[in-house]
Amino acid sequence: MAEHNAERRLRSQGWFGGRDKHGFMYRSWMKNQGIPEHAFDGRPVIGICNTFSELTPCNAHFRKLAEHVRRGVLEAGGFPVEFPVFSNGESNLRPTAMLTRNLASMDVEEALRGNPVDAVVLLTGCDKTTPALLMGAGSVDLPSIVVSGGPMLNGRHRGETIGSGTMVWQWSEDVKAGKISMEEFLSAESSQSRSAGTCNTMGTASTMACMAEALGVALPHNAAIPAVDARRYVLAHLSGSRIVEMVHEDLRLSKVLTREAVENAIRVCAAIGGSTNAVIHLKAIAGRLGVPLELEDWTQVGHGTPTIVDLQPSGRLLMEDFYYAGGLPAVIRRLDEQGLLPNPDALTVNGRTMRQNTEHAEVYDETCIRALEDALVADGSLRILRGNLAPKGAVLKPSAATPELMKHRGRAMVFSDYDDYLARIGDEDLDIDENCVMVLQNCGPKGYPGMPELGNMGLPPKILARGITDMVRVSDARMSGTAYGTVVLHVAPEAAAGGPLAAVRDGDEIELDADAGVLHLHVSDEELAARMAALPAHEPVMSGGYQGLYVREVLQADEGCDFGFLRGTRGAAVPRYSH
Ligand code: FES
Ligand code: MG
Repeated sequence: MAEHNAERRLRSQGWFGGRDKHGFMYRSWMKNQGIPEHAFDGRPVIGICNTFSELTPCNAHFRKLAEHVRRGVLEAGGFPVEFPVFSNGESNLRPTAMLTRNLASMDVEEALRGNPVDAVVLLTGCDKTTPALLMGAGSVDLPSIVVSGGPMLNGRHRGETIGSGTMVWQWSEDVKAGKISMEEFLSAESSQSRSAGTCNTMGTASTMACMAEALGVALPHNAAIPAVDARRYVLAHLSGSRIVEMVHEDLRLSKVLTREAVENAIRVCAAIGGSTNAVIHLKAIAGRLGVPLELEDWTQVGHGTPTIVDLQPSGRLLMEDFYYAGGLPAVIRRLDEQGLLPNPDALTVNGRTMRQNTEHAEVYDETCIRALEDALVADGSLRILRGNLAPKGAVLKPSAATPELMKHRGRAMVFSDYDDYLARIGDEDLDIDENCVMVLQNCGPKGYPGMPELGNMGLPPKILARGITDMVRVSDARMSGTAYGTVVLHVAPEAAAGGPLAAVRDGDEIELDADAGVLHLHVSDEELAARMAALPAHEPVMSGGYQGLYVREVLQADEGCDFGFLRGTRGAAVPRYSH
């Protein structure tokens, strides 16, 4: 058998390179797919890790995407092998796709390590698929490149442009406030989602696609090219070709996804008005690669970064507009020119630095990618809050908040869980006004379980009817990246883990000062300690199965909600023989 790669014997040769019984077995069964002998000659074997699923509608076009990656791999002399992994579909999975992010990451890790692959192309789209695949790949540390599925085309409804998710939050409140009819609301379903792709707002999927590009683990323009644009398929093709070269260069994920890359991503997240979910996912990804990242880095590194991308939910436009306006490279260049890109020399997967990739990128629409002086929010960095109500931190997104409510003191109105909220929020006699702070308990990682996107709980209809659209809300839940409001999220420790959030009672005074990083419950230390000592232990919904494992092992939001035992890189050594 010819030795294709003279410099280095690749790990796939640990399967395919033997002239003995083992080599026979590994090759022979693969040949039942019509694969010729020369595919096993030592050329790079490229895994195409596919999150295709018809139950993950945002990733349902991935067979075609994989086909274009395959063409690129073949063109560059690699041997492509596509395989499926658990697919986290945000829109369908209950109680939340977050519950299975870690499960998917385990699937990816074991599939990569146990199989004859030298590198991997990660096909990611819907929210959790991007962090799950990067987490799994991070624990193996082979050369890895992300190809995102791309956003849906702009939603169009009766002459209006509508954005995925964001319009649902807004219009459902409008129905409650009596501004539009239920018929009008429901008629927008098919207009919102009219092409393949992920949410077209700067929700979590788009944010994580931007994070992949800002981290340097995807090619330039990966984030914004629409899913159905032919250039998306060209990017997939080029990524397939590039990953083959990355094998020859031994450009492993850990050489790209460094502390420097994470710092760049934090700045970019503020500039795009990115989702709060990025805080949790970046922590979990960094944790797999041993990259240090603390909650306070979001303020220390991100501080003073203006939000300049005018996309919903922070602003007006959608991902399709963003691509035509110049996409993420143009944003990164704009930051870099103002000294706001911390590490322009960070290496990216194409072998060039972040600055080399972006220094000629142009802005074609200044209303979408704005000048720094004309920012949506002067300091769009995510605010990290601490205090006796959140000793391990909480998060608030200023570009989605009402500026006047970012500093607020009000009386707590407590909902003990989401069912309690649903049962009482419509009650005309509920003792609540717009100055109250709505508190939602038991929606954290262990409590719900899985930390659903319930933190932006809707306002009471009687308050909406008066034209009021925002109130301060505090919870241990997350919020959809497509949502907005003055919403304090990810309170840690969560209520179900015995955090002080569980001890808040109706009528307590809560003080929020987002710019000062404060979330304080005006209850004495003694009183708070007494209340917490009297809290009943949380009863999980299920104690067995994956959910049982999840509740036992999940870390709190400040630790990225990974399982403790999954942190770190366990490498890609060829495992022992199977037969
Ligand atoms: Fe899949 Fe928004 S629901 S990207
Ligand atoms: Mg989401």
